[in-house]
Amino acid sequence: MIPTLEWLPNGVNFLDQTKLPLEETYVLATDYKQVATVIRDMIVRGAPAIGVSAAMGVALGVNQSHAKDIPTLNTEVAVICDTLAATRPTAVNLFWAIERMRQRYSALADANATIPEIKAALITESRLMYDEDITACKAMGAHGAELLPKQGTVLTHCNAGALATCGYGTALGVIRAAVERGHKIDVFADETRPYLQGARLTAWELLHDNIPTTVLCDNMAGSLMRQGKIQSVIVGADRIAANGDTANKIGTYSVAVLAKEHGIPFYVAAPLSTIDPATAHGDLIPIEQRSATEVTHSNGRQMTPNGAAIENPAFDVTPAKYITAIITERGILRAPYEQSIAEMMKQAASE
Ligand code: MRU
Repeated sequence: MIPTLEWLPNGVNFLDQTKLPLEETYVLATDYKQVATVIRDMIVRGAPAIGVSAAMGVALGVNQSHAKDIPTLNTEVAVICDTLAATRPTAVNLFWAIERMRQRYSALADANATIPEIKAALITESRLMYDEDITACKAMGAHGAELLPKQGTVLTHCNAGALATCGYGTALGVIRAAVERGHKIDVFADETRPYLQGARLTAWELLHDNIPTTVLCDNMAGSLMRQGKIQSVIVGADRIAANGDTANKIGTYSVAVLAKEHGIPFYVAAPLSTIDPATAHGDLIPIEQRSATEVTHSNGRQMTPNGAAIENPAFDVTPAKYITAIITERGILRAPYEQSIAEMMKQAASE
């Protein structure tokens, strides 16, 4: 399996996704501030992967603390969590993971655990989240595989694969699971301007697994759909609101609208940690704005005239009405999403 990130005795090791597909190099983050930089600079990216990275960042930060008592450690934990939370605003998995680590910490501190016990338990917790993420991806694959055609072409946008998770992937996990079950699938990967997650990352990891992949410029999908060359669309998500509205990589919305126009199913695959019941609808999801140079420059070369105004929202929101189904590790959600999401979250919380 592609090693997106890994806990090591001396830090957290990340496959440097800014260098793919040409170089397979690693960046070792040896303290929590470096983990925050790795997330912010998108050396690691993808909602589930940044969640687990942040959890490991919390574990690393606490383990490097010299605090001798719990009140001092409380203050440090707050700073560590705030630093990691300030990296990227849209993927709710980041905040979910930090909150889970904070709660684990508080429970241990309240139970009078010693500082060495707390340190060990937080490492265990973050590694458990890593394992759970892979298990969730495999479960999404098992639930979603039969939704994909027995034979045909599936379009995906951005990278919701092994590289965006701890392994296997969400949307690409469903594709992998379908292929493992004998489906003959060709993948169309939107290049995904400006960061090129589709061209650089999705194509790289699918070809790694010998899954036939064609890279499309972002403006080609509509024409191919009209020609009947796309049977299904599947994408990941960064945050799913309580009503099913879904934030994902910029360009996802256009693909969803095109899919609806052409009668093509549009699936979202995401773990429950991507669902944010506290956000009622998509207009309330914070959308990250990234640097203009991601748009103005390509491979270090300036592509736009000086003075051109630039927009660079990293995500958009696809209203729930365009989503055929949401594939989770606990099963498939269908409209009305307000109801199906609430029921699944309630059931998960009761276990
Ligand atoms: O900006 P990125 O590369 O972190 O955006 C990633 C996406 O939009 C993915 O589709 C999403 O996080 C789901 S990853 C399983």
